This record gives sequence, structure tokens and C-alpha cells, in this order.
Amino acid sequence: MKNVKSLGANEILELVFIYLTDVSSLRAHDEIISVLANMGKALTSSDRCTVWVVSDDKKTIWTKVAHGIEHLEIPIYSGIVGSSIKNKKKIIIDNVYEDDRFNPEIDKQTGYATKSMLVIPMFGHDEEIIGAFQVMNNQSNKGNFDNRDMQRLMLASTYAAETLIAMKLSQEVEETQREVVFTMGAVAESRSKETGNHVRRVAEYSKILALAYGLSAEEAELLKQASPMHDIGKVAIPDSILNKPGRFNAQERRVMDTHAELGYSMIKNSQRPLLKAAAIVAYEHHEKWDGSGYPNKKSGEDIHIYGRITAIADVYDALGSDRVYKKAWTPERILELFKEQRAKHFDPKLTDLFFENLDKIYEVRDEFKDEYKEVELEEDTSESISILGAYGTKAKGFGTSSFALDKINVIDAGNLLEALDEECSFIENIWITHSHLDHIADIAYILDNYFSLRTKTLNIIGLPETIETIRKHYLNNLIWPDFSKIALDNSSEMALKYTIIEIGKEYPLDDTSSIKAFPTDHTVDSCGYIYKKNSTAVIITADTYSLSSLIAEVEDDKSINSMVIECSFPSEMESLAIVSKHLTPKILFEKLKKLKRDDIDLYINHIKPMFLFKIIAEIEEYKGKWEPIILKDGDFIKF
Ligand code: C2E
Ligand code: SIN
Ligand code: SIN
Ligand code: SIN
Ligand code: FE
Ligand code: FE
Repeated sequence: MKNVKSLGANEILELVFIYLTDVSSLRAHDEIISVLANMGKALTSSDRCTVWVVSDDKKTIWTKVAHGIEHLEIPIYSGIVGSSIKNKKKIIIDNVYEDDRFNPEIDKQTGYATKSMLVIPMFGHDEEIIGAFQVMNNQSNKGNFDNRDMQRLMLASTYAAETLIAMKLSQEVEETQREVVFTMGAVAESRSKETGNHVRRVAEYSKILALAYGLSAEEAELLKQASPMHDIGKVAIPDSILNKPGRFNAQERRVMDTHAELGYSMIKNSQRPLLKAAAIVAYEHHEKWDGSGYPNKKSGEDIHIYGRITAIADVYDALGSDRVYKKAWTPERILELFKEQRAKHFDPKLTDLFFENLDKIYEVRDEFKDEYKEVELEEDTSESISILGAYGTKAKGFGTSSFALDKINVIDAGNLLEALDEECSFIENIWITHSHLDHIADIAYILDNYFSLRTKTLNIIGLPETIETIRKHYLNNLIWPDFSKIALDNSSEMALKYTIIEIGKEYPLDDTSSIKAFPTDHTVDSCGYIYKKNSTAVIITADTYSLSSLIAEVEDDKSINSMVIECSFPSEMESLAIVSKHLTPKILFEKLKKLKRDDIDLYINHIKPMFLFKIIAEIEEYKGKWEPIILKDGDFIKF
């Protein structure tokens, strides 16, 4: 053994500096430990250094890095290192052969002659022992280790301990990632149109926002790994709801809303840091800054930062993607929504950061584009309309008359807001049947709520009397503002205009579809509509007592293959039905006997919810040859 001089203070500093620069530029943990071992060796002027790690089952210790020996694994409490680990004590020995704790086996195997030794135990964050740092055979003139060497070695061993902790964490991240990939796979599978790229993008957006917000690089990475699990609770949502090809009704909405809490309870008991973060994300990603979210109506900074970040990432991505129930929004509309929802749905500070980092967001969006697998889509050539509200009056969980023909045309405005939310701002034409409140109510609210999202004038189309009533008695600056005199934010056009409809005239909607009004029989002037798309059509009565004009239209136009007829009251209320010009099951099926065609589907709507079960029972009683379908909010009519 050649003797070297003990190191002076300046030399120590220089060594530390050299090695720590090395360490901070290294990414692989194994390499870091190896550099730290070199550093420990140099700092203590020793001949060899070994870093020992306690095994997962805590039965053995093994050499992570060792100078001059092969990989070794020995019982946890054996030898001098074992003693240090067992007693959680640092050990300095001048001559190991005079110490009966020493196990000379290793020297025998390796042919090495150990003499002096310094061992420092290493601890995890919870004070649990995770290994030991050992140097052997001091090379300096003094020939053995002292307290100064111990202090110096502490520098290296503390770093090594931190590195080992980080390694364990990243090992865990990998393990958990496998679990996640597996579970998310199940989610993705059950959601035929949502590709894996959705979660990938949400992950990347979350990381961008986390870093911009000032979270540490590690925490941002943790959130990136955790955020793909935000919708893990959806695995427990029945398929009929999850993949419903249309808008939810109130009942379905309630079931879906449980996914946040479900996801949380699925993973909340895990001790893994990643899954802990994921549990928070699953729980809080639908909370809203203004307290109107779910499941706990948390608000402001009570919502965990992970929840606030994922909310933005998730909604941004959902809006930009096709879903089974909606088309993707244009980038401009999405940004409008984020402006609008700043400090409402979203954390204002994060919303600002979102806008400041749009270039990064777009990079991710473009890198992980969706590629739709067309094969997964069923071939379905039939036309459809969607029932936004099916009932004859408003009640908790029941919406009133409205039908969506396409994105910009609806018939009646009973339940637009609840059913379409911001998508109401796409609506350009509302074809009104009559002026009763349950058919016009949401004209007022859809303008009010999403005014700044609107780009086109809203056109209210109806019979002259209907238009006159709405003007004079509803949007009259007394009950509600006269929006026909208010200009849109985004153009000089007025927010609303009125158009008188002509009975019997066919109005084209686009190249393939048209709409035509026919007269109906109610207490105020009223009409029904025939909506034709390609070569088929559906006829909608709205409120009526007589069915004679409907029957005439249906007999006359063989392209009509579906009809929607109202049935408001049970038979015991026949006299009220007659004066208010509505149908009961008995009267309805009596009148339908005049219809000769039997190749037509019958849908029933406008039931008063409080009589729902009675009316359903009576429909069964009186239906005769018919197989009527009773409409609910969120249903579809395929025709
Ligand atoms: P998701 O499809 O991943 O959407 C996540 C969130 O993005 C939604 O949370 C909502 O805040 C926002 N979002 C996406 N598209 C739109 C949109 O067109 N309009 C509005 N207003 N917001 C949009 P939310 O609403 O809590 O929904 C949670 C999940 O419930 C959705 O996850 C989706 O899987 C499902 N879902 C919600 N509504 C319907 C629906 O009407 N029909 C069907 N089939 N699924 C729905
Ligand atoms: C020990 O005896 O301390 C373990 C083996 C060795 O480092 O020599
Ligand atoms: C979504 O788009 O995924 C859900 C929420 C909604 O459209 O209202
Ligand atoms: C309506 O015609 O739907 C309103 C009046 C009523 O329910 O009788
Ligand atoms: Fe969700
Ligand atoms: Fe009515």
C-alpha cells in the first residue's frame, strides 16, 4: 500500500466540487452511485469503497457499487457492515482482524487484505435503514480513518442515500406504470372512440401547466404520470351510459358524475406516491374554481393544484376531440370557452398560464394526434334527431320540449341549456311550434349564458302570432331583454332576429335536409314540423288535440317513417285535456285509428312527469296494434 498525504481543506473542496458537478450532470442513478463511491474513496484517501443496499425483503444486503469485488450478497446482519446496519451506528476500525464482528470469508475469496475500515449507515426519509457506505484501507500516512474522514464520507453517503431513495421511487414509478397501462387499457377499450392519445395529451398538458405554475420538475413529472388516471372511475360506469351516442339525461348524468368518487376510492389506499397523486386527480378533476363542480363542490385553492391543472388539461382535450355524443370544437371556440370560464370553471392563474404556453400546448396536440380507427364505427346510414327534452312540464330531472335536428337547427327551446350547455351557442335557428313557456323558455337563457361565445344571430322562426307573443310578452325588456336590439360581442349583427314561417312551405336547411310546418290544434296558434333528411322524414306534432292534419300529412308523404305525438294527461283528466287541447292515451289511440298506414314508428312525448307511470300504464292498455316508444330526455329517433 502506497502512502499518500492527508487531504487539506482546499483539496477537499475541490474534490467535492468536481464530483458533485459530475453527479448533477448524470441521469442514470447507477452512475451517480458509482461517482459517489469514487468521491467517498477520494475524500477519505481510502483504497476501496463499497455501497451496500438492504434488499427489499430486508434479509440480505448486496453491493450496489464495489471497488475490486464482484457483486456480493450477504445476510443482513453479518460482518461489520451488518453490525453498523443493525445498530444504526457509524463504525471506525483500525484493524478488522482484531475485531470479532469481521467476517474474513470475503478477503479469502478475493485475496484482498482488509485492514482499516469506516462504515456509515444510510437512512431513508422515514429513518428506515436502506444501506451502508463503506471504505477500506486508509492510504494516508496515518494509516487509519478518523472523525474527519467520517465527516467527509458523510457528504458522499448522504448523497448516495438520496439517490437510492430516488431510485426506489423510479422503480416504483415503472411498476405502477405497468399497472396503470393495464388499467387504462381497460378504460380505453370500453371507450371505443377515445384513443390512448387522449390520456397521453392530458399527461403532457398537465406537465406543461405544472412547470409553468412553478411546481418542481419532480412534481410536474409525478403529475404527468398520475393525470392519465383521472377517469379511472369510468371503468365502473355501465357501458350503456359510458358509450351512449348522445346527450345524457339527468339520471344518466348523475350516474356518470360518480366516476370521480369511484376513481378515488379505487386507488386511495395505495401507499405509492404516484397512486396517491392519481387518487387526488381522480377525485378533484371535475371540481370547478367557482364551486359549481363535483363531487364535493370545492372551490378556489381548496381544490388541490393537481385537480385544478388536470381540469384544464382534460377539458381542453375533450373539447378538441370527437366524442360519441359530440363533434370536436374548433380551436377558436375552445379558446373562447377558456376565456369565458376563467375564474368560473378554471383557476384564473392557471388559465393565464395556459394562454401564455399555447405554443407548447399546440406542439403536444400536434405530436399526439388522434388517428381514428374507422373500423370501430358501426355502419349506420339512418338519419337521426336527438331529444333534448321530452316532457310536458319542467320538474327535477325532466326537461321540456326541444329536438335537435343538427348542430344549428332545433325545434322548440324547452330544454336547450341543460342538454347542450355551451353548445347552445352553435344554434342558429329555433323552429318554434307555439308560444307556451315549456316550448320557448330557454330562448332567454341560451342568449344570456353564452352571449360572448355566439358568432351568429339567433333566428326565432314561427307563426306570426307566436313571434308576436314572444316579442310582446317575453323578450320585451320587462320579462327579459329584447335581444333583437342588442348587438353581438363578435359582430355588428344583433343577437336575435325573428322570421315568420309559412305553413306548407318547405325550407331547405342544407343540401340534404329541409323542414316544413303543418297546422296543429292547440289553445294558441300552433304548428308541427316535418323534418326531412335525404329520402326519409320524421313528423312532430308538438301540442295538439286534433290529429287530422298529421294524419293527412302522413298519408300524403310516404317518406315520413316516424312520428312524434304528444300525450300529456291520463284519461281520468280527460276534461282538462280537452279544454287545454292535449291528448290522453285513450283519445290518442282512438284518433290514430283513422290512420291507414301501419309502416310508421310511433314515439310519444310531452307527458306530464307527475302522471308518468299512470300514462305509461294506460298507453299499454290502449295501444292496440301500435308499439309506441315513450321518449325520455337524451333519446334519439332514428328514421
Ligand atoms: P370527457 O369526454 O373526457 O369530458 C371531460 C370534460 O370535458 C367534461 O366533463 C366537460 O367539462 C368537458 N367537455 C367536453 N366536451 C364538452 C362539451 O361539448 N360541452 C361542454 N359543456 N363540456 C365539454 P363532464 O361534463 O363532467 O363529463 C364527464 C364525462 O362524462 C365525459 O368525459 C364523458 O365521458 C361523459 N359525458 C358527459 N356528458 C355526456 C353526454 O351527454 N353523453 C355521453 N355519452 N357522455 C357524456
Ligand atoms: C463486513 O464484514 O463488514 C462485510 C464484508 C466486508 O466488507 O469485508
Ligand atoms: C365531454 O365532452 O366529454 C363531456 C361533457 C359534455 O360534453 O358536456
Ligand atoms: C301546454 O299546453 O303544454 C301548457 C298548458 C298545459 O299544460 O295544459
Ligand atoms: Fe372525468
Ligand atoms: Fe302547450
